Amino acid sequence: MIEIHKVQTTDGHRIDCSIPSEEKLSIDAEELMLFPALIDPHVHFRVPGAEYKEDWTTAAKAAIAGGVTTVLDMPNNTPACSTALAFHGKEEMVQKQLNEAGIPLRYGFYLGADKRHLQEIPKLKKRAAGIKIYMGSSTGDLLIDDAASLKEAFRIAAANDLLIAVHAEDEALLKERKHQFANRSDAAVHSEIRSPRAAAIAVEQAILLAEETKARLYIAHVSTKGELDLIRSAKKKGLSVYAEATPHHLFLNDSAYARLGTLALVNPPLRSKQDQEALWDAIHDETIDTIGTDHAPHTLEEKQKPYGSAPSGFPSIEFYFSLLLNAHAEKKLSLEQIVSLTHTRPQEIFRLPIDDDVVLVSLDEKRTIDHSMIRSKARWSPYLGMTLSGWPRYTICRGRLFDLQ
Ligand code: NCD
Ligand code: ZN
Ligand code: ZN
Repeated sequence: MIEIHKVQTTDGHRIDCSIPSEEKLSIDAEELMLFPALIDPHVHFRVPGAEYKEDWTTAAKAAIAGGVTTVLDMPNNTPACSTALAFHGKEEMVQKQLNEAGIPLRYGFYLGADKRHLQEIPKLKKRAAGIKIYMGSSTGDLLIDDAASLKEAFRIAAANDLLIAVHAEDEALLKERKHQFANRSDAAVHSEIRSPRAAAIAVEQAILLAEETKARLYIAHVSTKGELDLIRSAKKKGLSVYAEATPHHLFLNDSAYARLGTLALVNPPLRSKQDQEALWDAIHDETIDTIGTDHAPHTLEEKQKPYGSAPSGFPSIEFYFSLLLNAHAEKKLSLEQIVSLTHTRPQEIFRLPIDDDVVLVSLDEKRTIDHSMIRSKARWSPYLGMTLSGWPRYTICRGRLFDLQ
C-alpha cells in the first residue's frame, strides 16, 4: 500500500488516500497536488524500425517523467503497423522493452489503414485503440488519398465499432503547393506548403464520411481556425467527432522558424498567432477534447538537415504536463480543464479501463528546461530554455512509485 498524506486535490480539498501496491510506502504530500495520471492518445515511440530515434525503454522513462502512464502509439513504423501480424509482433517487442525498463506503462496501438490491407481491420476489432488514417503524407509511408479507399476504411471501421483517427491534410493540395513553392528552401515555407486550407479540406471530407458511415472520428493535431469551425458545427449536429490539440500548436507558432529553423518542422506545421489563439478559444468552449503530444522524436542530426531532407516532428512527452501547469499558473487554463483534456476525455473517447494511477505535482516549483531533463532519445526539445511553473514530483503506475527527483 502507498499512503499519501494531506495531499491537495484539484477541487480544493485536502485528503489522505492510499493506492494498492506491493510496496509499503508513505508520502507526506502537504506541498503536493494529486492528479489522475495522464493519458497521451498520440505518440510515436518508433518501434519497430526507427529505434535509433526512440524505443520504449527511453520513451517510457520520458512518459513517467511527464506524469503519463497510458499512451496510444501510432502505426507509422517500418514496416507500417497495418496487419494483424505486424500488430502482434509489435506487441511482443514493446512488452519486452517495457519489461527491460522495469516500467509497467499502459499502452494501446492504432492499426494503420492501408488500402491493400483493409481486410485486416476486423481482426483487430478487440485489440486496436483505433484505426489511423493518413489523408496526407507525413513521416512513414502510410497514406490513403483516394476517395473510394477512404470511404471503405471508414465503413469497415464503423462496422467494427473502431474509432478512426485522422491525420487530416489534403494530399493533392500539399503536392500542388510543394510544386508551387519549389523555389524556396527556408524552413518557414513548410507552413505555406501545408496550408490551413489543406487541413480544412481534409477535415471537411473526414466529417462528411463520418456522418455518412456513422464512424466515430478523432481528428488528430487540429491546428487552425478553419478546422475548428468545421468541428464545432459537426459537434452541434450531434456527430461523434472529437478533436485533439498538441502542445506545440498551443505553445508555439510560426514565429519559431526564426529561432529554430528546420528544427521547427512538424506536420501539420506551426501556424499563425491567430490560429494559435483560435485553438485556445476552442479549449475554452470544449471544441477541443484532448491533448495528444504527437511525441515524434527524430535525432538532432536529422532535424538539422536542409529543408526537404529534415524530418517533421517534436518530442514533448516529458514536458507537456508542465507546459499545461504553467498555463494554469498564467491563468490561461483551469485545473479541471487540465484533468479533462489529459485524462477524462481521452479515457472516455478511447473507452479505456479506469485505473488508479496518479501523479503528485509540485505546483509552485519553477524549473528551466535544459538538456539534462530530456529522457527521450531525441536529446533535444523545442522547449529548451523555457522556465515553467509546476512539475510532477511522483508518478504512480500500477502500484509502482516513481520518484522523479
Ligand atoms: C510524425 C512522425 O514523425 O511520426 N511527425 C509529425 O510531424 N507530427 C507523424 C505525424 O504525426 O504526422
Ligand atoms: Zn500526423
Ligand atoms: Zn503524430
